[in-house]
Amino acid sequence: MCGIVGYIGKKNSASKFVLSGLQSLEYRGYDSAGIALLSKKPQVIKQVGRVEGLANQVTDEKADSHIGIGHTRWATHGSPTMLNAHPHYNTDQTVFVVHNGIIENYQELRERLVSEGYSFVSETDTEVVPHLIDFYLRKHKNFFTAFGLAIKDLEGAYAIAAIYDKEPETIYVARLSSPLVIGVGKDEHFIASDATALMDRTKKVIYLDDYEIAAITSDNVSVHNIKEAVEVKRAAEELDYDHEKAELGDYPHFMLKEIHEAPQTIQAAIRGRVRADTNTIKLGGLEAVSQQLKYIDRIVIVACGTSFYAGLVGEYLIEEIAGIPVEVQLASEFKYRKEPFSRSTALIAISQSGETADTIAAIKKVENYGVLTLGVVNAVGSTIARITDAGVYCHAGHEQSVASTKAFIAQVTVLTEIALHLSEGRTPLYKPVLQELLELPDKAKQVLENAPEIEKLAKKYSSYRDFLYLGRNYAYPCALEGSLKLKELSYIHAEGYAAGEMKHGPLAMIDKDFPTFAIACDSELMEKTISNIQEIKARKGPVLAIATEGNKKVSQHADDVIYVPSTLEQLQPLLVCIVLQLFAYYVAVEKGYNVDRPRNLAKSVTVE
Ligand code: G6P
Repeated sequence: MCGIVGYIGKKNSASKFVLSGLQSLEYRGYDSAGIALLSKKPQVIKQVGRVEGLANQVTDEKADSHIGIGHTRWATHGSPTMLNAHPHYNTDQTVFVVHNGIIENYQELRERLVSEGYSFVSETDTEVVPHLIDFYLRKHKNFFTAFGLAIKDLEGAYAIAAIYDKEPETIYVARLSSPLVIGVGKDEHFIASDATALMDRTKKVIYLDDYEIAAITSDNVSVHNIKEAVEVKRAAEELDYDHEKAELGDYPHFMLKEIHEAPQTIQAAIRGRVRADTNTIKLGGLEAVSQQLKYIDRIVIVACGTSFYAGLVGEYLIEEIAGIPVEVQLASEFKYRKEPFSRSTALIAISQSGETADTIAAIKKVENYGVLTLGVVNAVGSTIARITDAGVYCHAGHEQSVASTKAFIAQVTVLTEIALHLSEGRTPLYKPVLQELLELPDKAKQVLENAPEIEKLAKKYSSYRDFLYLGRNYAYPCALEGSLKLKELSYIHAEGYAAGEMKHGPLAMIDKDFPTFAIACDSELMEKTISNIQEIKARKGPVLAIATEGNKKVSQHADDVIYVPSTLEQLQPLLVCIVLQLFAYYVAVEKGYNVDRPRNLAKSVTVE
C-alpha cells in the first residue's frame, strides 16, 4: 500500500537505487510513481501507471543526484493522476515529501493551512505534510524541528520521507504504524518500506519504531522519539536471510511460477521441523514460550484476506488435532470488538507480509491483557514477526504476485505443524497426519501435472458472470479462498459457501448461467456434498467438481471433474487449493487481465 524508497550517499546514484527499489516495492501499489532528486536544482518526475514508465523518463545520468526519494502509489485520497502522484511539495518547491499510510486529520490540517494562506494542488492527504513543514520552518528556521513539529500534528498511520533543498545532505523520515527500514551502507544510507528493496545493497538495517523520526546523512542516523522528546540510540541489526531476486524464468507470470512452487514451499515449511523417524515436530520459534503454551485453553486467530482463510483451515486443524477451541476473526473486526480475554488465551496472527495494518492493530489490542501472541509470518524481520512474543516462519520465499498462493500453502502447512505440536502427540491423528505431511510435496507435484486439464476447463467456464464455490468441513475454507481468488483475478462475481448452507439462500441464484465449483474429495461428508451437486443439477446449474483420484461417484453428477491424489482429509486443503489457484489464474489469463497486478488491489495493505 504505497512504497517509499530513498537514498543519501557520496555517489551520484540516487535515481538508480530509488528506481530499482520502487520496482521491487511495486507490489505495494502501482497506480502512479514519482521521484524527487536534489541535484543542482530540485527535480520532480512523476508518472501515472507503473514504475517502468517513470524509469523511462529518468534517463539523464548527468542530472542524477546523491540524494533522492521515490514513491509508488496505491490511491487512497484522490484518483491516480499526475497531480495526486507523490512526491508532494510546498509552494516554493523546496520541501519534498513521500508518504505511505493515511493522515486521518488531513481535512482539519488542510483547512488550518488554507487559513494561513497555503494553497493545494492535489486531492491527497499527503500534501498537507510539505505545507505543514513549511509553516513550522518559517517560524523555527530549523528543518529538523519543523519536521518534528509537523509530524506531531499528524494523526493516522504514516511512513514519511522528506528532503529539503537547502539541506541536500539529509533525508528526514518518520514512522507511525507503517513500515520503514533504514539500510546502512558504506558512506551511504538507504530507506525503504520493506527490506527486500534494499537487500541487494546491504544486510545491515535499522528499524524505526512508532513515533520515531530520524535525520539520515551518508554517514549518520540520528533517531528521536517525538512522543517522549528524547534521543534514541538504535544499533543496526543484521538481516539473517538471503534475498533471492524474484525472476520469472520461463513462466509468463509470477503467479503461475509461485503456484508451481507449491511442492518446494511445503518442503521448506516442514524441513528440519517434521521428523519421520522419531515422529516428532520441532518448532524452534515456539520453544521460548513452551511453558506458556501448556496452559492455553483458547486460541484466537486474526488475519486478513487469504491469510484469514488459511486461519479458517487452521481452526479445523487445531480443534480436531490439538483439541483446543479456536475462533478465527477478521483482524479489521477484531480490533474494534469489545470481548473478554483471559491469560490462558493465545492469539495467532497470520500474515504473508507481516505488515498488514489491521493485523498489527489486532496484536496491539491484546498487548495489555497478558495474552500470548504468536506470528505465522512469511516476511522475515517484518513488523508482525518482531512484535509477537514468538512464532513460526512460513519460509515460502518472496511472494511477488498480488494474489497470495504459495504463502497460503505455507501458512496451512505451518498451522498443521502447530496443531500437531500443541496436541503433544495425544491424538490418534498425530502419527498419520505427521507422516502424510511428508508425502504432500510429491502429491502437490502430481496436482500441478494436471495444469493443462485445469487450463482447458478454465477456458470452458471463463465466460460466466457468477460462480458459487461449495465445500464442507476442511473444504469450506477452501471454497471461500477459491472464490476470493476468482474474484480478485478475473473480476467474476464469486461466492464461497458451506455446502450445507446452500439451501438457505444461494440455491435461489442457481440456473443454467450460474455455475458451481464443488469441492467433493473423499471424506465422511462427501455423500452430502454429492447431494448438493444433485440439487444444483436439478436446477440446471453447471457443476465443476474436485474429487479424489479413483472416485467414481462425483463424475456421475458433476459436468466436469478435476482429480487430486488421495490424502487425509486434514491435508486436502493443501492439494485442493492448488487446483483453485490454477483455475482462477487460467480464467484471468483467458480474459486477458494482468494476473500479477489485479486492478485496485495491492499486496501489502498497510492502511485501515
Ligand atoms: C492483501 C493481499 C492478499 C493478502 C491480504 C493479507 O489483500 O492482496 O493477497 O491475503 O492482503 O495480507 P497479509 O500480508 O497480512 O497476509
